[in-house]
Amino acid sequence: MQDLNKLQKIFDEKFTDTGLTKGAFSAPGRVNLIGEHTDYNDGFVLPMAIEKEIVMLGQLRNDRRVRIFDLGYNTEISFSLDKLIPLRKNTWANYLMGVMDEIQKAGYPLQGANLIFISNIPKGAGLSSSAALEVVTALTMVKLNLLEIKPVEMAHLCQRAENNFVGVACGIMDQYVSCLGQKNYALFIDCRFNDYDLIPFKDRNYQIVICNSKIQRGLVDSEYNRRREECKRATDFFTHRLGSKIRALRDVTVEEFKQYQEYLPEPIARRARHVISENYRVQTGVQALRKGNFSAFGQLMIESHHSLKNDYEVSCTELDLLVDLALSEEGVLGARMTGAGFGGCTVNLIERSYINCFKKSIQNEYKKITGISPDIYVTLPAEGAKVLELR
Ligand code: GLA
Repeated sequence: MQDLNKLQKIFDEKFTDTGLTKGAFSAPGRVNLIGEHTDYNDGFVLPMAIEKEIVMLGQLRNDRRVRIFDLGYNTEISFSLDKLIPLRKNTWANYLMGVMDEIQKAGYPLQGANLIFISNIPKGAGLSSSAALEVVTALTMVKLNLLEIKPVEMAHLCQRAENNFVGVACGIMDQYVSCLGQKNYALFIDCRFNDYDLIPFKDRNYQIVICNSKIQRGLVDSEYNRRREECKRATDFFTHRLGSKIRALRDVTVEEFKQYQEYLPEPIARRARHVISENYRVQTGVQALRKGNFSAFGQLMIESHHSLKNDYEVSCTELDLLVDLALSEEGVLGARMTGAGFGGCTVNLIERSYINCFKKSIQNEYKKITGISPDIYVTLPAEGAKVLELR
């Protein structure tokens, strides 16, 4: 938990007390354990919320203005709820504006507010700092305005904000887990039916360790959209062959894929193979975790990385290096890139007693080869968005 007292002090210095409802809220980032690029194919994912978050403090105003202070960047933005238009500068504010826009479009009335926030989720690292910003904004505005919006609806609303206002065609995973994450559990999400199951992920012997390659995810937007189109082409192919029961790649079985793959052009065949096999890995991985079989789960993580590297082609040299280095260490059960790819982080499943050695060794080796000092975070599954107590 970040320093709420400090935030409160700065809030009081910046804004005059309106005497209206005030509150503090937080939303976490996430790491995806397995199930990459499957969410927008109506598939399965297994992310968990991490112990890094955005904390927001807010108070309602008597008018329709919103003033937001970003403590990290030390910048303030102000706008009216009647005029929500994406900004070209200070684009971080678009995440907040987009959420307010979607809340209003969904028919909920909003009053203006003074807001301040601080984040310890590294930006551009693939740990969903943008989803956390959307979700904490949604929760703040919903609670201050005394609205009733359920977490799953809130996640969809935040996804729409990113799709429509920010202009990124992301799936539902990041917002979903930031809203609904639970301490000590990973979230097995069925992205077609918006159902989820809690999968226990606390074991005295194992821990999740995240390695940040510090490579900014440059190509991510254009390549992400291209992958989505390629998946659409693969889906159309299978609908044509197998009928209307195929609405997304989620509906194609591994056997059906094998039967038809030779008729699919490249790289569409490999893209489809990744998504279809990854959905299978998520389901198998969930069964393994339920039985406490962490080594089987680790093996699936390794297979997932190969598939993302060779078939989906969303990895990069540095992520591959981090995975190779990790797998040459003792006590590592699994390692893979996590998130959209092209930079960002890897996620590793490690025996607890080896963590210190792992950290030292990865830091040295990665630095020796790339000249970059990686950041390494050890985390347990954390709680999703929540209300904080103000003193
Ligand atoms: C990004 C998107 C998610 C998901 C992942 C890839 O994080 O926001 O919806 O598609 O990439 O698994």
